[in-house]
Amino acid sequence: MSEPLFEVDETGEDLTRADTASSAAELSPAEKAATREEHLKLAEGALVRADDLVAGYVPGVNILRGCDFYLQDGELVGIIGPNGAGKSTLLKTLFGLIPVRSGAVTLRGETITSAPAHKLVQLGVGYVPQNNNVFPALTIEENMQMGVYLRPKTFKDRFDYVIDLFPLLGERRKGKAGSLSGGERQMVAMGRALMMDPSVLLLDEPSAGLSPAYQDEVFIRCRRINATGVSIIMVEQNARRCLQICDRGYVLDQGRNAYTDTGKSLMNDPKVIELYLGTLAKAQ
Ligand SMILES: Nc1ncnc2c1ncn2[C@@H]1O[C@H](COP(=O)(O)OP(=O)(O)OP(=O)(O)O)[C@@H](O)[C@H]1O
Ligand SMILES: [Mg+2]
Repeated sequence: MSEPLFEVDETGEDLTRADTASSAAELSPAEKAATREEHLKLAEGALVRADDLVAGYVPGVNILRGCDFYLQDGELVGIIGPNGAGKSTLLKTLFGLIPVRSGAVTLRGETITSAPAHKLVQLGVGYVPQNNNVFPALTIEENMQMGVYLRPKTFKDRFDYVIDLFPLLGERRKGKAGSLSGGERQMVAMGRALMMDPSVLLLDEPSAGLSPAYQDEVFIRCRRINATGVSIIMVEQNARRCLQICDRGYVLDQGRNAYTDTGKSLMNDPKVIELYLGTLAKAQ
């Protein structure tokens, strides 16, 4: 048995605060410049990179307001922040689902700003949205086939890889995805994205709505997937657990980077604890 990655939080309490009283998103011009400078220095040669992203849904309303992000090859990077901070919007923007108003997204140095999703899938980007991420009327196996529709010949090899990570999907392969629990569906959605052998996986709240035990399971799987060579960008409400397993983390607030550092440093940063991690993390 491998060692547990973290202690189970018995309360299952949501550790992210939606009611951030004093926001860190309003950085001073000097702080902003420092953050940008740091980003420009460290984002060099990144696998995925976003620079000064401005994007939104409704004309005239920007949700991302100058967001910087990078993911180096092999990293697991977490994105945390209060509700409505723009975390899902950032993932959707990286996956070309939201028009970019200014700024740029690159993959291995190539511009992919607003590239269509099917092109990104071909380029090795997998995306698992927060909700509605399985085909409920199809069996697990059929869901996996949908994941590999561009390369049907690879089905067997990829399915073997996926059921090695998620044995349950092999055992229940003939069952309808609609009959599964939330946690099991989340596995199907991740499995389907992995069928295309992505080099980058974008995960939006993989542990949302799951029991603490299932949440731990998901985080452990994510680390295992990462260990097989898949770089991961993970948005999470469960901020403390996310920071425990990620190499680096970003705290997003009001569409901007508020803090970024290694997962460990963010977890121990008094300001991050006070503003975003709540009382349980403080007590640790
Ligand atoms: N389809 C949409 N059309 C218009 N506005 C939207 C849409 N989706 C999200 N928004 C707005 O964008 C802002 C950021 O939303 P987003 O879903 O990115 O936040 P989030 O950080 O993922 O929050 P949560 O933790 O609740 O998932 C919110 O103010 C939200 O109301
Ligand atoms: Mg979200």
